[in-house]
Amino acid sequence: MDRVVRVGVIGYGYWGPNLVRNFNRLADLKVCCDLDEGNRAKIGSLYPDVAVVRDFDEMLGMDVDAVVIATSAPSHYELAKKALGAGKHVFVEKPITLSTETAQELVALADEKKLTLMVGHLLEYHAAVNEVKRYIESGELGQVRYVYSQRLNLGKVRQDENALWSLAPHDISIILYLLGEEPDEVTCRGESYLTEGVQDVVFCTLHFGSGKLANVHVSWLDPHKMRKLTVVGTKKMLVFDDMESTDKIWIYDKGVGDGEGYLSYGEDVRLRFGDITIPFVQMVEPLATECRHFLDCVESGQTPRSDGRDGLRVLKVVEAAQSSLEQRGAPVAIG
Ligand SMILES: NC(=O)c1ccc[n+]([C@@H]2O[C@H](COP(=O)([O-])OP(=O)(O)OC[C@H]3O[C@@H](n4cnc5c(N)ncnc54)[C@H](O)[C@@H]3O)[C@@H](O)[C@H]2O)c1
Repeated sequence: MDRVVRVGVIGYGYWGPNLVRNFNRLADLKVCCDLDEGNRAKIGSLYPDVAVVRDFDEMLGMDVDAVVIATSAPSHYELAKKALGAGKHVFVEKPITLSTETAQELVALADEKKLTLMVGHLLEYHAAVNEVKRYIESGELGQVRYVYSQRLNLGKVRQDENALWSLAPHDISIILYLLGEEPDEVTCRGESYLTEGVQDVVFCTLHFGSGKLANVHVSWLDPHKMRKLTVVGTKKMLVFDDMESTDKIWIYDKGVGDGEGYLSYGEDVRLRFGDITIPFVQMVEPLATECRHFLDCVESGQTPRSDGRDGLRVLKVVEAAQSSLEQRGAPVAIG
């Protein structure tokens, strides 16, 4: 442990154990809270020095500076509001809440109380994503034309939220972070095959005022396990493949319209096929970077990279996409 921030974590289901493991290493983890008796028993056996409670109010009454919320999305708003109200800094898993109104309320409350509010947009803390951002901002890819991401697998099938809410916040947060822009319009199609009313596969397209386009394909009903993002620029093209253990970024010196390249058959279009480079990226567990950043912000008062406003930006897109999904792909403007 190298920190003095006293932390309490609520939610020890699928994702919570990863947060507990990191905060136990990086902070003074005081208490964990879960409604489920079996999960409480697991915490007790793995972390005998950490208090375990069932009741969130009991946790808020203890000596903790910060609360980490890893419960399912519908509970985020009430739990975060209570924690901020009790004067605790808050790290809440994505999505921040289920509506822009409630997210705005949390942002305002954190501002008013001068407390840190951070959202678990994990991939903004991924070393390779930050390397991709560096390539985009350095101009090496030229101007970004369009981006698409694929987050696919067979499982983990969820029944309480669709693939858009469960998976797409990751991709939307990366795309907004990389492009530094918010879309002005969203269209989204998806279908429910396994659970009525819960879309297992979703295709979501974001249009940006600058003319850029982004597509997000998410599914838990797919033969491929894929976590891939492709960026097409005017000079070069880049692929970030998070399933690769080391060679995560591939830069293709390919493009159209300049240089000495090959003149496409029958067309007045010059295509360029150059080298492929795979830069070395020093990998660190993104979750450890994310948790450390939260603790840094609590200690220093600096605004987190994925603060409540970032959570709100992503939520606005997810909300608009859900509205488009319900209207069978009708375009929905984002104000
Ligand atoms: N950053 C990531 O990569 C990532 C990955 C998976 C999930 N998540 C997010 O983490 C959150 C949790 O997801 P999950 O898959 O672990 O859910 P889960 O349903 O597996 O676990 C939630 C846990 O919270 C407990 N809980 C719920 N309400 C509670 C309450 N009021 N008081 C105490 N305990 C309560 C439940 O008993 C359960 O153990 C979600 O917001 C999800 O989107 C993030």
